[in-house]
Amino acid sequence: MSNVVNGIAPVLELSHIYKAFTGVKALTDVNVCLYPGEVHTLMGQNGAGKSTLIKVLTGVYTPDNGQILLDGQRIAPASTRQAQELGISTVYQEVNLCPNLSVAENIFIGRYPRKWRGFGPVDWRRMQVASEQLLQRLDLHIDVQKPLSVYPLAVQQMVAIARALLVSARVLILDEPTSSLDDAEVQLLFQVLRNLRDEGMAILFVTHFLDQTYEISDRITVLRNGVREGEYAVAELSRLELVNKMVGVAGDTPFFDAVPVVPSAANDAGEVFLEARGLGRKGALAPQDIALHSGEVFGLCGLLGSGRTELARLLFGADKADTGTLQIRGVERRLATPRDAIHAGIGFCSEDRKTEGAILELSVRDNIMLALQARNGLLRVIPRKQQHKIANDYVKWLGIKTPDIETPIGSLSGGNQQKALLARWLATDPAMLILDEPTRGIDVRAKQEIMDFVIGLCRKGMAILFISSELPEVLRCSDRMLVLRDRQGGGQYLRGQLDEESVLQVIAGEAA
Ligand SMILES: Nc1ncnc2c1ncn2[C@@H]1O[C@H](COP(=O)(O)OP(=O)(O)OP(=O)(O)O)[C@@H](O)[C@H]1O
Ligand SMILES: [Mg+2]
Repeated sequence: MSNVVNGIAPVLELSHIYKAFTGVKALTDVNVCLYPGEVHTLMGQNGAGKSTLIKVLTGVYTPDNGQILLDGQRIAPASTRQAQELGISTVYQEVNLCPNLSVAENIFIGRYPRKWRGFGPVDWRRMQVASEQLLQRLDLHIDVQKPLSVYPLAVQQMVAIARALLVSARVLILDEPTSSLDDAEVQLLFQVLRNLRDEGMAILFVTHFLDQTYEISDRITVLRNGVREGEYAVAELSRLELVNKMVGVAGDTPFFDAVPVVPSAANDAGEVFLEARGLGRKGALAPQDIALHSGEVFGLCGLLGSGRTELARLLFGADKADTGTLQIRGVERRLATPRDAIHAGIGFCSEDRKTEGAILELSVRDNIMLALQARNGLLRVIPRKQQHKIANDYVKWLGIKTPDIETPIGSLSGGNQQKALLARWLATDPAMLILDEPTRGIDVRAKQEIMDFVIGLCRKGMAILFISSELPEVLRCSDRMLVLRDRQGGGQYLRGQLDEESVLQVIAGEAA
């Protein structure tokens, strides 16, 4: 075939793939070749068709047209299971494992080894040993008998990869596996990917992080509105060119030249909305003092597991503090449950889209209205006309890509679902909004636009607690910052007092 390059034939070829959903052409005439021993990254804006392409490849969707060749043979996987048996394994955007089952069970799910030549009871011992061996290949040494849920997401993803190895995958597909990992975890994952690549595996990777793309990929395919814009060797494509190709602007629009710092809040910022003194919880977070001002962004930085989310949960009444006091607008309050927090005017847009977020069968409108409706009381139904206005406004303001507001949210791309969840909390017009990785999965350009929009709202009087693993973004947006390290406060700073390097020093515990 003509796709043989330097004598190496592709493992997998997608040719002339078409896939449409009602009202949306998700993929139009897309061609992609995957070679053994390479990392090939798919890039594109939210809704460009990346996940759809992967789902076509792995038997979740049947393409309307086009073919898939594995080693030159035509295949038509009808399920992820079939794709897996053919050697094509996927780790999805949201880890799709069973949190209550043990690590070993998750690796072997659907293919438990049995005694007596496969007819006897489950061979737990064999399962355990084999799981340990697989994970050791990934340099992960954990107790495989513990439930998966006790481990952080990064480990859960490794488990998903181990599962892929079990079925001796030749093609490994990862759809935004790093969106919730911290830097060290990303490095761990990348080391695993490099090892697998060197063993000859073909890896198809999706991410919105440009740094990661340049670090790990050999080649990049850019999708735009469901069309393949082009394929490039990484070395041949600058970041600026890449973003322009994703967005579809020619020439050198100065998108990256000037990522503007968000203007700071007026000097003597608004009143203190919320003040916590000595707020902490044993085992989760050492006592902290913080004050959130109306009209200001308060940034939390620190590695994953440093206590960022723990602090947010205490402030939202999702976990109970066992030390400290809380004042809202100068009045002492106890937030025993999220309900109390919501009534006090606090909103919490969480990073966990899957468990705390989108209700996939409900429409975009219903999903956006949910928090506001809950706060108003379920008996006082918000009039339809008002619902339409609110939902349509946010679809416009946040650039949510959807045929209309009645579309089930489950049929939106991952990044667009995330935007709708943000809209849900903005619609409640909270006095204080906790944003925990609010732009996770949102493409590089929309991310900045959305944060700037949110901060615009904040300047009108909202207090924001902003949590993000992307340090430059926290620095760009925050008026005050708390750096956390090992569940302890590593110091509080005002805008301009820290740059990226000094924050990293604080995180590493090396600050002067
Ligand atoms: N099951 C579905 N039903 C209807 N439309 C769908 C479905 N799945 C995807 N789409 C639409 O197809 C388009 C491509 O979506 P896809 O999920 O492939 O985007 P993506 O590139 O993965 O985006 P993101 O970066 O946000 O994850 C979007 O417009 C999306 O709304
Ligand atoms: Mg996607």
